[in-house]
This record gives sequence, C-alpha cells and structure tokens, in this order.
Amino acid sequence: MEKGRTALVTGGSRGIGAAVVRLLASRGVRTACTYFRSPGPARALALEFPGLVEPIAYELGSLDSAERAADEAVARLGHLDTVVANAGVWAGGPLTRIDMDTWSRVLNENVVGTAQLCRAVLPALRAADGDRSITIVSSAVAMIGGVGDSAYSSAKLALLGLSRTVAQESGRYGIRVNAVAPGIVETDMTASLPDGAVAAVVDGLLLRRAGTVEEIAAAISFLALDATYCTGATLTVDGGWSV
Ligand SMILES: NC(=O)c1ccc[n+]([C@@H]2O[C@H](COP(=O)([O-])OP(=O)(O)OC[C@H]3O[C@@H](n4cnc5c(N)ncnc54)[C@H](OP(=O)(O)O)[C@@H]3O)[C@@H](O)[C@H]2O)c1
Repeated sequence: MEKGRTALVTGGSRGIGAAVVRLLASRGVRTACTYFRSPGPARALALEFPGLVEPIAYELGSLDSAERAADEAVARLGHLDTVVANAGVWAGGPLTRIDMDTWSRVLNENVVGTAQLCRAVLPALRAADGDRSITIVSSAVAMIGGVGDSAYSSAKLALLGLSRTVAQESGRYGIRVNAVAPGIVETDMTASLPDGAVAAVVDGLLLRRAGTVEEIAAAISFLALDATYCTGATLTVDGGWSV
C-alpha cells in the first residue's frame, strides 16, 4: 500500500483513465478523478473506493480549469504528489479533407491543454515531499503516424517533446516526468473510429490483439509510482505496433 500518496488523474472517469484510478486506489493512493461532460462514472468510482476517490470537474484546453482542478485536488487530498495527464481527444480524416478548425482543436486540446495542466500542477508538486511524478499519456501513433491521424499523431508526438522538456525543467525539484505511448485499446474513443479500423490495426500487431485498459494502467502506474529513477522516458505499450 502507498501510504500518504495522492494523485490527480485527468479523464479518470472512463476508459484507460478509469483503469488507472482503480489501480491507484487499490494500491491505497487517494486519487482525484476528473470528468468533463458526465460526473456519473466518476461518482460511481468514488462509491467503489470510499474515501479514496474524489471526482472533480476538468476541461482540457483551459488554463483556468486546469488551475481549478489542481487547487481542488490539493484542497480535497491535502497535497499532490502524482499526476496522470490522461485526458485526450481524437478527431481525424485525411489531411486533404479534414476541417482545419478541427485540426487546430485536436492540437490545442491535446498539446496546449496538457501543457496547461503541467503548468497548473507543478507548484503543488514542488510543494510536496518524496517521490513525485507526472505521467503523460501519448500514443503509439506519435511514432508511426496513421492514415487519417495527421492532427492526432502530431499532437501526441508533441506531448513527447513536452514530457522530456518538463522532465528537464523539473528534475532539480525531484519531480519525474515520463510518457506512456499506448497502442490500440478498445474504449469509447476507439468506438468513434471508422468501421474496421481497430481490426485492421490488430491484424498487423505482433501480439495480434488489442490491449486492455488494465494493461495500459499497469504501465502508467509503474512510471507514476514505482520507477523512481526514471524520468524523461517514453514507455511504449502497443503489442508491437511501432516495431
Ligand atoms: N483508446 C486507445 O486506443 C488509445 C490509444 C492510445 C492513446 N490513447 C490515449 O489515452 C487517453 C485516454 O483515452 P481513452 O480511450 O481511455 O478515452 P475515453 O474512453 O474516450 O475517455 C475519455 C475520458 O476523458 C474525459 N474527456 C473527454 N473529453 C474531455 C475534454 N475535452 N476535457 C477533459 N476531459 C475530457 C472523459 O470525461 P467525460 O466522460 O465526462 O466526458 C473521460 O473521462 C487519451 O489521451 C487517448 O488519446 C488511447
């Protein structure tokens, strides 16, 4: 059990984020779990782990919202030592057809939004003691791209630059910053992909199957809590997609 450890997981109410919240809470980490549109699933996690999970509202792409989420997490948990920047958005289409406002929104919410979150939580992390970490959720498409994924893959690659830079700026304070690059995992996000897209990816994977949210959460919690000499790293968890 992780005595006294606290975490903020963005997009913690569903999909990969919810698996991270469950894993951290089951390890005794008191965890603020953010939702955006629907508080219901985050409240259900709070009922599943009484006294360990705190639902809070958060919207990607707003510095104001990131600062409020950081303040709220500290107010409810007492301090903050672990942050998982998991919330992200996907929208796609061939570059010749995708609406450029959509392209800019994907970049802004994923990249600027995650930078705003890091900026908002760093004062609280610096004020805390012991091992502290930020783990940013990128994607295997950062490394390999993908048809229809020009905005998303650009944004997820930018997050690797962001995580390495924040790692360089934060090491002197004892704060570790790493990234996880998941492959294909069936969640509500992949449900919005075109028909057959997941099967086509799975067909080409070394492991010939999609990952589970629990497998990605295990990698995230390893970097967030266990890998205490690991910073500036990217852990690819993609069933061999990017090999
Ligand atoms: N699934 C995959 O195959 C895959 C692969 C590689 C990387 N990833 C990355 O992994 C992360 C989690 O993906 P997922 O598939 O688990 O997603 P998901 O199932 O769609 O979960 C979305 C979560 O993010 C929240 N959210 C949605 N839009 C938001 C916004 N604009 N601002 C703040 N929060 C927002 C949702 O809250 P509400 O329900 O309240 O709206 C929910 O908690 C993302 O960064 C994604 O890019 C996923």
